[in-house]
Amino acid sequence: SIFNDALRPTIGFTPVPVALGDQVDVVTVPYGYTARPFFSWGDKVVKGAADWRSDASNTAAEQELQAGQNNDGMHFFPFPDAPNEHGLLVVNHEYINDTLHPNGPTVTENSQGQKQRPMQEVLKEQAAHGVSVIEIKKDADGQWQKVYPSHYNRRLTANTVMDISGPAAGSAAMKTLQDETGRRVLGTLNNCSMGVTPWGTYLICEENWKNYFVNRDEQDWQNRPAHKRYGISAEANSYYNYWESADERFDATPKAEQKRGGYVNEPNRFGWVVEFDPFDPESRPVKRTALGRLVREGCTCVMADDGTMAFYSGDDTRGEYVYKFVPEGKFRADAPAANRDLLDKGTAYVAVYHADGTGEWRALVQGENGLTPENGFATQADVLINLRGAADVVGATPMDRPEWVAVHPQTTDGYVSLTNNYKRGVDPDQPLNAANPRADNDHGQILRWREFDQNPAAEKFHWELFLLAGPVLQTQPKPGEFAALEGDRFSCPDGLWFDGDGRLWIATDYDELEPEYAGQGTNQLLCADPVTREVKRFMTGPVGAEITGLTGTPDGKTLWFNVQHPGLSYPASDGVTRPRSTTVVVTKDDGGVIGS
Ligand code: FEO
Ligand code: CA
Ligand code: CA
Ligand code: CA
Repeated sequence: SIFNDALRPTIGFTPVPVALGDQVDVVTVPYGYTARPFFSWGDKVVKGAADWRSDASNTAAEQELQAGQNNDGMHFFPFPDAPNEHGLLVVNHEYINDTLHPNGPTVTENSQGQKQRPMQEVLKEQAAHGVSVIEIKKDADGQWQKVYPSHYNRRLTANTVMDISGPAAGSAAMKTLQDETGRRVLGTLNNCSMGVTPWGTYLICEENWKNYFVNRDEQDWQNRPAHKRYGISAEANSYYNYWESADERFDATPKAEQKRGGYVNEPNRFGWVVEFDPFDPESRPVKRTALGRLVREGCTCVMADDGTMAFYSGDDTRGEYVYKFVPEGKFRADAPAANRDLLDKGTAYVAVYHADGTGEWRALVQGENGLTPENGFATQADVLINLRGAADVVGATPMDRPEWVAVHPQTTDGYVSLTNNYKRGVDPDQPLNAANPRADNDHGQILRWREFDQNPAAEKFHWELFLLAGPVLQTQPKPGEFAALEGDRFSCPDGLWFDGDGRLWIATDYDELEPEYAGQGTNQLLCADPVTREVKRFMTGPVGAEITGLTGTPDGKTLWFNVQHPGLSYPASDGVTRPRSTTVVVTKDDGGVIGS
């Protein structure tokens, strides 16, 4: 394989066994390692925050100053003078659970049979979304501690004021009753994975934002690709608890009597990459429309020595695509001001995987590749707001739910987790293909690619399947067909992250209580060798939780991961306390590099 010139990392720990049963309420790491709950839902973030109340009776206003729920993508930003001892931890809060309220959400019905929610509950739910920034530091004993209060600490929520920039900013399709400029939006939603730029900003990514909106005008919905193609429902969506009943911004039904159609365009203002500077607590986050609008999992940067960059993203829905964005400008370490708006100009591409192991990035540019006014793309704003539809036109390859992308630190090869897809080979729009070779795919695969000449801006690449996940050892792949899974079993790869030594860390997300996953145990964190494809299980989590959000210190001696939506009583693990999504810190007892 052309990929075998990667570093071969040492993977020296003794793997942990699967954790079976429905009462597992702990995190288990290998002998010689310590894992400690570090940052949980309800922890104090902003100065003046109230203590978390274990009966969930904190108010919406209190929640605004505390950690949100469902910790997901995150990143450790070191301070330059003490990079392994002091930094900012930026943590996404993807969504909320019923545990947010003392007795779950209150739902009533009005005289028309429409579901209604109390305003204070909706406000608390909105406050539990978004991002936390916390200052963290090692104490005299070498233990990581949260610095509180800290002027860096910050919460972004579903109601934080944000700017909109790039080619779609200010277009008619971005204007709402509240915003006649099309350049100012409240909040970010469903922040799953993330990205980091070479100039030190954090990229929030907006994933399943579609679930928060409703367009009850069935005929309008049928004809509006910016709603229908993205999965917005024509019926109120219970998953996000009928916010539209308390906050009209989430009712995207067109209202002819209101300016700019009311909030019919509000969903067009979500699905973007949102950039912000964690070191500047006053900075206003910016939605960068040049990258396009997706159900966007993450945004992973690769950079060549000359400053040429690409940003890779999966669109996590069954049969959706893998994308990249190549900024027009190059990163300049010597001119920080020149980097500030690099994400406003560039080209979005979508991936096509050919059976011969080559692939193409097809440009999503108005006027090219069939993106014409006749096909619904009169301007580049049209292309970016309906990037999925543009990708359909250019012939992108439908994938098995693309989640995180990781980039190898030495070779710059990209790895994407394709988590699972029960529609593969079943839905006529999703036939088997070389990159997605298994029908009714419950277990997922990891695919990797190398850009031609290892140039981030290349329009062609080589690719292969790295691993097929699942309980069955695939020992005899046909030559060139797909790879074996060597070592410890797992299903549904989701989080992917390379450490500096080239270890590939794989976090899983499956429902261990479903029969498809019998024997797999609770969700896991694994470590893979990119050359031998050997996989070792590093950690098992509590029942009900997915594992996600991988980051570490530059020296590799601290690792953080997230235990998202645990089911029992983690992190208290006392069988009584309500569970809390939690960031866990891992160190090696001998002070060595994690995984070595
Ligand atoms: Fe929020 Fe695709 O995981
Ligand atoms: Ca998640
Ligand atoms: Ca995910
Ligand atoms: Ca997932």
